[in-house]
Parts: sequence; C-alpha cells; structure tokens
Amino acid sequence: MSFIELHHVEKEFSGKAGAIHAVADVSLDVEQGDVYGIVGYSGAGKSTLVRLLNGLEKPSKGEVIVRGQNIANLKNKELRSFRQKVGMIFQHFNLLWSRTVKENIELPLELAGVAKNDRSQRANELIQLVGLEGRGDAYPAQLSGGQKQRVGIARALANNPDILLCDEATSALDPQTTDEVLNLLEKINHELKLTIVLITHEMHVVRKICNKVAVMELGKIVEDGQVSAVFRHPQQEVTKRFVQQELQPETNSDEQLIQEFVAANPEGRIVTLEFKENNANEPVISQAIRQFPIDINVVAGRIRRTEDASFGTLTVLLTGDDQAISQAIDFFKLQDVEVTDFE
Ligand SMILES: Nc1ncnc2c1ncn2[C@@H]1O[C@H](COP(=O)(O)OP(=O)(O)OP(=O)(O)O)[C@@H](O)[C@H]1O
Ligand SMILES: [Mg+2]
Repeated sequence: MSFIELHHVEKEFSGKAGAIHAVADVSLDVEQGDVYGIVGYSGAGKSTLVRLLNGLEKPSKGEVIVRGQNIANLKNKELRSFRQKVGMIFQHFNLLWSRTVKENIELPLELAGVAKNDRSQRANELIQLVGLEGRGDAYPAQLSGGQKQRVGIARALANNPDILLCDEATSALDPQTTDEVLNLLEKINHELKLTIVLITHEMHVVRKICNKVAVMELGKIVEDGQVSAVFRHPQQEVTKRFVQQELQPETNSDEQLIQEFVAANPEGRIVTLEFKENNANEPVISQAIRQFPIDINVVAGRIRRTEDASFGTLTVLLTGDDQAISQAIDFFKLQDVEVTDFE
C-alpha cells in the first residue's frame, strides 16, 4: 500500500454553464519520502487535486486514501487531527499581517491546544530550521518574499506533519529565491522524512527537487513517472511543451553561436550529441579523442541534471580526416548517444 493513494477520483463543481470536471478519473500513488511534482497549465485541476489530499474537498467519486485511511470516512474531530498532519504552503504565503513571524508560526499550535511554553519552544526550533534566526519579532511586511515563504514553511511544519503540500509555493519568487526555498524543501524532505506533493507550472522546480512527476490536463493525469524518464522521453504533447520550457530557452542564441562558429571554422563537421540514457556524465568525448585521430570542440550545449540522472545535448565540431570522424560518430552511437548533423 502506498502512502497516498487516489483511486479513480473525480471532483465536479456545478458552474453556470453546467458541471465542471475539475478532476476527472485520477489515480495516483505517492510513496513515503517522495517529492511528487504535479504540473499543468492554469485550470488543469492541480489545486483541486491537492485540496482533495488534505480533505478540504471531498471527491465526487473515487477514493482518497492517506496512510491507509479513507479520508471520506473521517468525522469532524478525526478530520481535524488528520489535517494537522498535513502541512500546506501557498503562492501568496497566507500569513497574518498583524502577527509577528513567531506568532504566525505559533498559530497552528494554538489551534491544536499546545501549551504556551511548548508553543514558544517549538516556534523557536522552527525559526532555526528555516533559517530565520533573529527575525522572530518581525512582521510579515518587513520580510522579503523568500523570508515570508520560510515563515509559511515553518508554520506548515508546526504540528510535525508527515506530508507537505505546496501549491505554487515558489511562483511569486525570483529564480535565486526560488532555488533557496527549494533547497530548504529538499532539506526538510531529507531530514524530516517528509513526503512532499508540489504543484508547479515550472519544470525547473520539478527537475531540481522532484523524484516523480505527473502532468495534468483538463482534470486528468495524462502522463506520470520518474522525473528523469519523463524528461528524457516525454510522450504527450503537453509534456513535451513543459520539458522544452526547460531545455529550449537558449536555443536561439545557441543557433546563432553555432552559425558564427561554422563561419569561422569551415573545416570539420558539426554534430549535435544527444544524451538520453543517463550517460551525460560519462567521458564519451574524451574516450573518442583518445581512440580516434580527431579533435572535438564543444560549441554549445545544455546538460541538465535531475535528481538522479543527467541528460541533454552538446553541439560539437569534429575535425580530422573523414574516416576518423565517421568512426568517432559510430562510437558515439554505440554509447547510446544520438548524433545529428547540424544543418
Ligand atoms: N470551488 C469551485 N467552484 C467551481 N469551480 C471550481 C472551483 N474550484 C475550481 N474550479 C474549477 O475547476 C477547474 C480546475 O481548477 P484548479 O484551481 O484546480 O486549477 P489549477 O490547475 O490549480 O489552475 P491554476 O494553475 O490557475 O491555479 C477550473 O476550471 C476552475 O474554474
Ligand atoms: Mg491552482
């Protein structure tokens, strides 16, 4: 049995123009310790899906089973204590502006009836954990976006949850701050053995911290799997678009760079090597140089690491005699590297 299981879950809302199938026949397994990414464009049903995971929404059909418990069967008090063990953070932090950092973090502890001294001690621990030492008495308005999200994370962890749900938690942050918050989430995942389900529309976020990913479109999960597999072999159109978002941004400037390079180096053959089988770390280039009388110049490239694999492309200039070059190309192909000539 998985830690979180969804069996044919549907969520219907009644709208003016009829029923809206926000979540349509979703089945999903999340294992303990996963950092599970859910990506999709606006309106795909991502937020509805995570609200089903903490019992804020009840499924119209199907079952949501968390730690072996069917959430639909939980009564008021059970549901409240269940929710305490599921933390959540949001894009806009949802902090109380009239309360200090420390008071914000203590809020869920107050609601859970924790004694004052214990609350204070726990809040101090959490302030330390999220790297906000010395800022406990500040008000949210005095903090940067990244610091506000750290408060959000500390508050979400107050009652020692074992699941953390993140709904676009880094979407309001700049890239540098996004990475800092992702590093913190990664640390929490490792140190506290927390299972994280994370919604995002940024593949960068998925690549950086998720081990698994599901792609949603029109309420359905259209593709899911290990992040490295999905990045290497995206099947659906929508997935391909998301993956390209991560690999393509520099293509135009690459193209120009390569053109300039070709003009300056009319000799030799320019090829793009595509590493798909987690072999981007292997020294295939230096092996080729050693085995064949050729030179290899890297012209442009994009190698990306997921949590457990490397993949991407390198465009290189091969110089030497024609036979040596074609032998080197055969060698690359033998190493499972795809080779295409640059037009
Ligand atoms: N409470 C509600 N009542 C009616 N319709 C709803 C409700 N909540 C969500 N919906 C509809 O369900 C669909 C999915 O919404 P949801 O918020 O889950 O999408 P999302 O993938 O999170 O989008 P975004 O990226 O914009 O946050 C949308 O068509 C939305 O309008
Ligand atoms: Mg949403």
